[in-house]
Amino acid sequence: MHLNSNFAGFHLPMSTLKEQIDIEKLPQHIAVIMDGNGRWAKQKGKLRVFGHTNGVKAVREVSEACAELGVKHLTLYAFSTENWNRPKEEVGALMELLLKTVRLEIKTLIKNNIRLRAIGDLDSLPKATLNELNEAMEKTAGNTRMDLILALSYSGKSELTKAIQNISKEVAEGKLDINNITEDLVSKYLYTTHIPDPELLIRTSGEKRISNFLLWQLAYSELYFTDLFWPDFNKEELYKAILDYQQRQRRFGKTGEQIQSQTA
Ligand code: FPP
Repeated sequence: MHLNSNFAGFHLPMSTLKEQIDIEKLPQHIAVIMDGNGRWAKQKGKLRVFGHTNGVKAVREVSEACAELGVKHLTLYAFSTENWNRPKEEVGALMELLLKTVRLEIKTLIKNNIRLRAIGDLDSLPKATLNELNEAMEKTAGNTRMDLILALSYSGKSELTKAIQNISKEVAEGKLDINNITEDLVSKYLYTTHIPDPELLIRTSGEKRISNFLLWQLAYSELYFTDLFWPDFNKEELYKAILDYQQRQRRFGKTGEQIQSQTA
């Protein structure tokens, strides 16, 4: 237990990180770039795939912590379109790991009332992986506690390009007036229709990039970077990220004084 000294010299138990979180100010949507699996494995003299396998433990921890706290949406960047360019063996191993993890975790998702969703170019996934994923999504479709959203074969630029194509088609066919193209309308043409934008983005491994992730949706997200590699990320680290987020003043272009007078 951590101990705090007070002025009288008594030792009082320090509240845990979880207890310090203000549940009223919880982000509704947290997005995560799970980075550093390969370097984590290399540090241990192991193959990169060993890092991915251990990354699943962190996925479990963070999903559980978010559901326990009451976060409504958790989006995990599990595979980008650029990741298809990795060595064939690594791509194969990742697809296999995804399939096995989804198969193994489905009971836990159902028990915990968590809905599994996926965003990205899902048709490019191997058939077996896609089938497993579709089955899990169907079986959890009615769950309401939290959405666990996997970004798979995902690219923010390609998501926006598809949205532009679909909107243009509606305009060309006379179904949509160009003056009715609003920010809200664009949002509806993205994979994340009806999912609020993330208030908090976490990226592990010390890299400070967005890497083509949720380009539209992250416009006003608070960004949190940690040097930890993804397999070392856990519940306590998530609590730290949320506490850091809760210290920030979200101004959305306004002045600090304006925000203070709104909340006073
Ligand atoms: C990035 O680390 C991680 C990935 C590309 C894959 C993430 C996959 C998992 C955590 C496991 C499966 C996930 C689910 C949801 C079941 P990296 O390989 O880029 O690491 P590096 O930057 O150190 O090379």
